[in-house]
Amino acid sequence: MSDTSEERFAPDRLRCEYAANPLGIDERRPRLSWWICDPATPRGAAQTAYQIQAASSDVELAADRSDVWDSGKVESDQSIHVEYAGPPVQSRRRYHWRVRFWNAAGRPSEWSEPAWWEMGLLEASDYSARWIGASLVGGKEIGAPAPYLRKVFALKGKPASARLYVTALGLYEAQLNGQRVGEWVFTPGWTDYRRRVMVQAYDVTAAVRKGDNAVGAILGDGWACGHVGPVGRQFWSDRPKLLAQLEVCYDDGTSETIITDESWKTATGPILANDMQKGEAYDARLEMPGWADRGFDDSAWQPAVVFDDVRANLVASVGPRVREIQTLQPVAVTQPRGRVYVFDFGQNLVGRVRFRLRGQAGETVQLRHAEMLNSDGTIYTDNLREATSTDSYTFRADGEAEWEPRFTFHGFRYVELSGLRGQSWGRPGHDLSGEPTRDQLTAVVLHSDTPPTGQFECSHPLINQLQHNIVWGQKGNFLEVPTDCPQRNERLGWTGDIQVFVRTACFNMDVGGFMTKWLIDLADSQQDDGAYPIVAPDILHSGENGTAAWADAGVICPWILYLCCGDTRVLERHYESMVRFVEYMRAEAGEDLIRPVRGFGDWVNADAFTPLDMIATAYFAHSTDLLGRIAAVLGKDDDARKYRKLFEDIKAAFCREFVTETGRVFGGTQTAYIMALRFNLLPDSLRPVAMANLVEDIERGRCAAWPYLSRSGHLSTGFIGCKHINLALTEGGRLDVAYRLLMNEDYPSWLFPVRNGATTIWERWDGWTPEKGFQDPSMNSFNHYAFGAIGEWMYRTVAGIDLDEGRPGYKHAIIRPRPGGGLTHARGSLDSPYGRIECAWRIEAGQLHMDVTVPPNATATIHVPAASAKDVAESGKPLDAAEGVSNVRFADGAVVCEAVAGTYSFACPA
Ligand code: BGC
Repeated sequence: MSDTSEERFAPDRLRCEYAANPLGIDERRPRLSWWICDPATPRGAAQTAYQIQAASSDVELAADRSDVWDSGKVESDQSIHVEYAGPPVQSRRRYHWRVRFWNAAGRPSEWSEPAWWEMGLLEASDYSARWIGASLVGGKEIGAPAPYLRKVFALKGKPASARLYVTALGLYEAQLNGQRVGEWVFTPGWTDYRRRVMVQAYDVTAAVRKGDNAVGAILGDGWACGHVGPVGRQFWSDRPKLLAQLEVCYDDGTSETIITDESWKTATGPILANDMQKGEAYDARLEMPGWADRGFDDSAWQPAVVFDDVRANLVASVGPRVREIQTLQPVAVTQPRGRVYVFDFGQNLVGRVRFRLRGQAGETVQLRHAEMLNSDGTIYTDNLREATSTDSYTFRADGEAEWEPRFTFHGFRYVELSGLRGQSWGRPGHDLSGEPTRDQLTAVVLHSDTPPTGQFECSHPLINQLQHNIVWGQKGNFLEVPTDCPQRNERLGWTGDIQVFVRTACFNMDVGGFMTKWLIDLADSQQDDGAYPIVAPDILHSGENGTAAWADAGVICPWILYLCCGDTRVLERHYESMVRFVEYMRAEAGEDLIRPVRGFGDWVNADAFTPLDMIATAYFAHSTDLLGRIAAVLGKDDDARKYRKLFEDIKAAFCREFVTETGRVFGGTQTAYIMALRFNLLPDSLRPVAMANLVEDIERGRCAAWPYLSRSGHLSTGFIGCKHINLALTEGGRLDVAYRLLMNEDYPSWLFPVRNGATTIWERWDGWTPEKGFQDPSMNSFNHYAFGAIGEWMYRTVAGIDLDEGRPGYKHAIIRPRPGGGLTHARGSLDSPYGRIECAWRIEAGQLHMDVTVPPNATATIHVPAASAKDVAESGKPLDAAEGVSNVRFADGAVVCEAVAGTYSFACPA
């Protein structure tokens, strides 16, 4: 498979279930996707038919022997999520596949490069391994040293193939013959372990040999045993446990399986403590060199303990795991006091530090992590609450050591290094009495492997920094589950946060697999009464489960995934669950369809309280509306009618209860008007009045905290309103006000933190202010993506990349940039399921230039902001003479046309 053969007339970028060549999946009807490439058709490249072949090996495939499945020529333009339809898939089997397409002229392309997917273990009976671990158990507060486990086994020959299937309650790092297996960290990943534990499969053919071999693992506490959220340790398991199965196959067709069982041995080593929130303590004097090699003397090790009472449902790994994504070097080192040094990485990030330091045997260094500094230059840690985020390392011998913790991560920009005696700083040749140097610490950025897909850039440097902050907020919080924040003792899959951010997330990165996995976590945590939780995996079991705008993530997130990724299966799979949720709300609302007061409201708003029963009823309506549309997509016409009707009834109830005849919405806040407008809860006649009231509040509204001051052009929204405010203003014809909100640099605004040095999105509009300093440390994260939901508006409106609900996944794109706010250029791009969409505009010498790319096998409706079609040229030709352009018309204040795939260059008077 190749992403580089762009010029070949063939499908490219082959994917199976959002991944390139996934190993060890358990999806029984895997879906295949590809981009088409038709270099000879610059405009109008499209697929009119495809053919997929699957074979038992790439040799068979190359020899045109599709011995597993041949779709034959299928007349269809579908190039994403095509279901494999061959014989039932089998555990362990690798499926090699390739695809070709017929283009718009009916000409067959070349075959794609081959790709593959490999099934993991599909049946419980495929597993013979047993859960093992050590006898040491930590307590509610403190964990035990990390267990090391190992076993030596002999193989009768060099295997033709070998797979390691492995998982843990807690975390594992597997080793084979002294080599680390794989590059993922925090495996097996985070799920509700009572319901499911994910198993990773690794191709270890190259790591095993004839004769004696050693397999081993180090276990960490992770989410299952260590501190998780604010609920302490041992939530799922009292200690970490391992389950591993190594399967080797020989050329003669025979095979052998090595499993975790009582024959394994265990000991503790240098990892004295490890915890996601507290950090890791490592004493290198306790290292056991060669512990994962066959020759190691393990006579002092204890037999492993076997646990037969673990009732975990083993499933294949779904979606991407976490890995090292990049590294950063410090931009400065300071010495705020004594021998305490503070390294500034210039970026609030999530991960940990790798160091190379000199020290003396027995000397311990400490690394403490923080997002901000106090005014005296020391690190500010109050907002971490109970998460001490401290790593420590004790030198084994005099000299240089390199170290990086294994089983912890921190949210930080600054690292405080202390504990080294002065004379030992530096590398050989370095001034030993001197200061630590920047190159001695490296920040390792960790997050789920969600490759970048979008880019946004414009002529305003602070807005570009805002986009940067949004992306880094996403990087820091897309770690196994979409979390609220990565630093304090929380780090939970808060449902409210992701439902406002998910559309932005879908622009920035390929989150299809990541969200697919988390939606399973969410469904796993749905209550019996149908309520979705406020966090998933649900560790809080809160009385607030089911609450408005949080629980609604269960409907909103699948819907957004469907829109952005064209993924219908996610709707199918969660349909029953969504119905149960809407019915739960209906039961809670009762006859009058008004939901009761509870929940978090418009969380962290700027002094603008929006009534809770109103928010709850508005979201009840919104989720019901979406469910009706989802039912229609799935062809469930009766349900579609039923929920459309219910939506209309809730809308009527909402108006009766919360809207006056003159168009005032109860509460009178910006968020109240925004919800009423965006969720279509008002009669058409009242929409203009509601819009006017919204704008009036932005311009002149007063708030409880400073009633003598008006908002004078500022937003007051919290999480709920911030996602929708600029969308509502744009839809209501007040693009000017939307741009004004985006451009504001004083509190409360998106650029206020940017102007104050933010490198990620803050939890609160006033996380830090020059006048008041830090907000309440009990809730003041500096890496919280929710307010970054403005990113969606920036891509959709400023750059103008949008989608058509009727042809999701950007099969048909809507390109509609809306220049404004004094910007002179903006550019957005998105690697959509069909290929790269781009829209770049610039204003130069009174002309507006707009360059647009519509990917192959897709089409677009393009809006050029011009007064008349006569004013618009495309590649120097009049618009209606342009190749690939049709149905030119004037609509919604712009010249609108339909376009086939291709690259276009429009120009018109600015
Ligand atoms: C979290 C939020 C979350 C909220 C709900 C906070 O502690 O950090 O982002 O949505 O609680 O109450």
